[in-house]
Amino acid sequence: MKPARLLWLALLPPLAACNRSASQVAAPITRTPAATVSATDAAKPFRPPPESAIPDDDFGKQVALGRQIFMEPGRYAKAYVGNSLSCENCHLDAGRLAHSAPLWGAYPMYPAYRSKNHHVNTFAERLQGCFRYSMNGNAPPLGDPVLVALESYAYWMSKGEPVGAAPPGHGYLKLPKPRLAPDYARGETIFKRDCALCHGGNGQGQQVAGHTVFPPLWGPQSFNWGAGMEQINNAAGFIKANMPLGQGNTLTDQDAWDVAYFMDAHERPQDPRFNGSISTTRAAYHDTSDSLYGSTVNGHVLGQGTTWP
Ligand code: HEC
Ligand code: HEC
Repeated sequence: MKPARLLWLALLPPLAACNRSASQVAAPITRTPAATVSATDAAKPFRPPPESAIPDDDFGKQVALGRQIFMEPGRYAKAYVGNSLSCENCHLDAGRLAHSAPLWGAYPMYPAYRSKNHHVNTFAERLQGCFRYSMNGNAPPLGDPVLVALESYAYWMSKGEPVGAAPPGHGYLKLPKPRLAPDYARGETIFKRDCALCHGGNGQGQQVAGHTVFPPLWGPQSFNWGAGMEQINNAAGFIKANMPLGQGNTLTDQDAWDVAYFMDAHERPQDPRFNGSISTTRAAYHDTSDSLYGSTVNGHVLGQGTTWP
């Protein structure tokens, strides 16, 4: 964990003490740990080489640079970044953690067809998408040193893995559909109980001396409406396995869906593919029950992007 974050956490009251309301303590807490990990995912995840194994040569320099970009894109790939997130915010442990879309789970699976853009994507093109949507920035051109370094890091981390076979722990958890349709009010209750402590009551995260200690979940500094995390199923799978930070797999599946819905029912920067109208942009790119783009929630039509706060 980053030193700034440890400092911040040390200043907070203990998690367990302050995120339970009196009513929750009185009522029996029915939290079931992950019953949703599939047989393949339960298999032992791949162990990437330790950081200390990065070779001390010209190739190793690119690997190390790729890691730096991954951790602090706003510093090392500034020209392509439009928010205060880092790759590591969503791909935990420097892109190593199973079930948080680790780089070693992705690299051996490309080139791959993506329904998002209807053609076969190289790994570099997949990386471009992260900058355009998750980082709300601009895609570095193919061959750009930023992409070369990131690809070197992912390739190095995948050493020894078979090509083309989805490794256990790749991607995010795929949760089964919830029993009850995801709900804003229930999600808000969970957010206040389990998330606001770090991500802020307004979801804007925490900055210390201009440095993001806890990332924003919505608003102008977060991922945009074209990002994968905007889809409730992706967000629910990420949250179930990884949040609250350090307490992954403690939320019920229903809680994960509800809080993912709540998070994704807030404004964020416009989808860069916006074609002039929210409804036609929804029809072109968001025609799924997993996206709230273009839906009306609490009287607000989502997808306006620019109207913030
Ligand atoms: C806001 C969260 C978020 C941030 C920030 C983010 N990503 Fe991602 N990333 C995702 C999600 C969600 C997916 C999966 C999307 C999907 O499956 O449709 C993904 C997918 C990927 C994949 C493909 C994974 C696979 O298994 O196929 C790679 C590689 C990747 N991201 C790299 C990056 C890099 C590099 C950065 C920083 C420049 C970055 N991401 C920033 C959320 C994020
Ligand atoms: C103890 C502090 C803490 C708590 C509590 C917590 N998070 Fe996080 N969250 C983090 C940190 C730190 C990161 C970035 C992880 C990293 O960079 O290693 C993160 C990342 C995220 C991300 C991806 C990055 C982004 O900004 O979109 C999402 C989504 C998220 N958290 C949602 C939640 C939800 C929902 C809850 C409540 C169920 C929650 N978190 C509770 C600390 C916390």
